[in-house]
Amino acid sequence: MSASLIQTNDLDSQTIEAIFEDASQYLDGKFYDDLKHKLIITLFFENSTRTKSSFEIAAKRLGASVVHLDVAKSSTKKGETLFDTAANLDAMGPDAIIVRHATSGVPKNITDFAQCSIVNAGDGNHAHPTQALLDLFTIRKHFSGNIQGKKIAIVGDIKNSRVASSNMELLARFGLEVILVAPEVFMPQTSLRSCDDIREVIDELDIIMSLRTQTERHDGSVIISTEDYAKKYCITKELMGDRDILLLHPGPVHRNIDISDEMLLDPRAKVLEQVTNGVAVRMAVLKHLILANG
Ligand code: NCD
Repeated sequence: MSASLIQTNDLDSQTIEAIFEDASQYLDGKFYDDLKHKLIITLFFENSTRTKSSFEIAAKRLGASVVHLDVAKSSTKKGETLFDTAANLDAMGPDAIIVRHATSGVPKNITDFAQCSIVNAGDGNHAHPTQALLDLFTIRKHFSGNIQGKKIAIVGDIKNSRVASSNMELLARFGLEVILVAPEVFMPQTSLRSCDDIREVIDELDIIMSLRTQTERHDGSVIISTEDYAKKYCITKELMGDRDILLLHPGPVHRNIDISDEMLLDPRAKVLEQVTNGVAVRMAVLKHLILANG
């Protein structure tokens, strides 16, 4: 059975420490040959800018060959089932298939049809494990490893966000206090501390993770105007004041709805550093999964 990564708790904390150690080294920007003669396929059924290119760059920086299946031109458009598509790709002998799909559970189900490692690059609102890993990595780096008891507010459309759901598990496991901040329509059922106004908690916070409104997953029942939402939840300079708070966002950012233009330029915003760290963390994840297969 190949090692797959479907959700954050597929990796124990010790393994995550080892992955972060490798990732720290890969921040040097160099090319390595750990995955020379390995073959990786990217299979994205949903749009992506960062995650797809980040995985492809990570694979190439480790010397792997990468094939991207253009789903729009594939036989899934001729009526082939998704699982037949995966089984056929697997029959070509890749070491890993990296999958993104709009439906929760698809990457996990593909593991039944494939011999190679399956890496979840985001499924519905279920999980986005490598995003949470790169977020935790960025937080640890910023606080030089001292993250026990740090307070993070996850702000926005938490209910529909796979980034939020993976981070809730991972950040809590590594000792952070997670506070959910969202209007009622975007709040999941939770036992975590939660509130609908960031101003109530901002003085306590060490980190804010702002999220995009996941309009593609709304069924028409969400009635909140962008303007009203932004008034209350947009992270602005005025809201942040001179507080020493690390500001994160997984992208894509809705400017002036999630975070203001001005705040994106502020040194407290580490959105692009997350992207840089993402390549190094994905290099370490791919190496771990593929070489664990022997
Ligand atoms: C996220 C995603 O696709 O889940 N983006 C990403 O991978 N960096 C978040 C989002 O789309 O809002």
